[in-house]
Amino acid sequence: MSAKMPKDFLWGGAIAAHQAEGAWNVAGRGMSTADVMTAGGNGIPRKITKGVIEGEYYPNHEAIDFYHRYKEDIQLFKELGLKCLRTSISWSRIYPTGTEEEPNEAGLQYYDDLFDELQANGIEPVITLSHFEMPYALYEEFGGFANKEVIPLFVKFAKTVFQRYRDKVTYWMTFNEINNQADGQEPLHVWTNSAMIIEDDSQKEALVFQAGVNELIASAAAVIEGKKINPEFQIGCMMAYVPVYPYSCAPADLMASVKANERRYFYSDVHVRGKIPTYVQKYWAKKGITIEITPEEQALLKAGTVDYIGFSYYMSGTISTLDEVAGTPTEDIPGAKIVSNPYISASDWGWPIDPVGLRYVLNTIYQRYDLPLFIVENGFGAYDQLTNEQQVHDDYRITYLKEHIEQMEKAVVEDGVPLLGYTPWGIIDIVSFGSGEMEKRYGMIYVDKDNTGKGTLNRLKKDSFAWYQQVIASNGETL
Ligand code: BG6
Repeated sequence: MSAKMPKDFLWGGAIAAHQAEGAWNVAGRGMSTADVMTAGGNGIPRKITKGVIEGEYYPNHEAIDFYHRYKEDIQLFKELGLKCLRTSISWSRIYPTGTEEEPNEAGLQYYDDLFDELQANGIEPVITLSHFEMPYALYEEFGGFANKEVIPLFVKFAKTVFQRYRDKVTYWMTFNEINNQADGQEPLHVWTNSAMIIEDDSQKEALVFQAGVNELIASAAAVIEGKKINPEFQIGCMMAYVPVYPYSCAPADLMASVKANERRYFYSDVHVRGKIPTYVQKYWAKKGITIEITPEEQALLKAGTVDYIGFSYYMSGTISTLDEVAGTPTEDIPGAKIVSNPYISASDWGWPIDPVGLRYVLNTIYQRYDLPLFIVENGFGAYDQLTNEQQVHDDYRITYLKEHIEQMEKAVVEDGVPLLGYTPWGIIDIVSFGSGEMEKRYGMIYVDKDNTGKGTLNRLKKDSFAWYQQVIASNGETL
């Protein structure tokens, strides 16, 4: 396609602190909720342990040692042509337990150095405040985000870093994939979003909604404070958009898809519109869920709406109510089940591959909110083979990215969706969030490390490196 992407389009790459940095206990850093997640595997869940237990393997403790190797990595990012790098700030580097009066200067200095190095190499930092981690002590002391005492602690952290980096960072996001805890069924997401382990099933939904509402209040308060510190800041939310399609044109399937999508839109509806939507109020009433929210907090939601919507897109889902289709029943939509889509294939981890879904998301989200969008994650986790010549021929990754970028460009060029940038996930191989594997690789830069933690940590360029280089150099014309 002959694309005419905007001249200032932010082609970039994305990582997150806990999946890349390592150095989990250096320079005054406190233990983070990511430090107690063991390695799982493909189809094997990660365990969340009570503190760090001897004999368990915690892949995030060292990760790819980006903490010490960022200068070398930034040289590779520069060679790739990245205009921006999305990463996050590890909250427990700044406030080791979350409750200190004063921040940890060594932690602040680290991000000063990192952002300076990026800028010196022409790469703009795009920063998430909380990417699936927070100080572990906030779990121990408060039981996580369902407790309102955590809200001011997050806002204090946000104010500290907004102030410190007010001249170094323009694009911020508050909570990574805040809506991933939406159904509360998946313990890992409840843990990483909200630092909660909920043993009583009957309490799960209410607690997850309360934590989500508290995070939305914390996010709004942070937006308000950030704008006071630097009115030029662009502060966005970060959503995981997994559009759920109706399996058939049966009206009941369409309605089931509307309800399934609502459940995920809830978070961006509040971030953007600044109020709790009526559909969720009805749902809470039906389920007998009481959510604590004061009039002052409602006013914060109204005043602290976001400037743009950052989102990840990896896959779509499909829902049906038809008896003849087999699937996994949904708890909150009676009579419906999640089914597989016969028109699309899946990755080795069973993630559906649906490039057109990205164009669909860009269109529907822009139509819903009328705000600029930013694709801050998209990518293909795969098993790579390192050849004897020290090469990785990852044509499957190139195909995945090419097909998604094509759809993205259609959305921008043909449909007129305002899009700030595109930062493919795991631009350099990092620890997988979901499985804890190193060998679920997304990168264009290979990192020599395996699932058990062995390897030299050496970096080398995969075939996708040269491919993405020319995509950026041609501003998306040559795919
Ligand atoms: C997103 C997260 O859910 O997906 C990332 O924001 C994560 O942290 C990415 O790594 C890919 O998931 P996974 O489980 O393959 O690492």
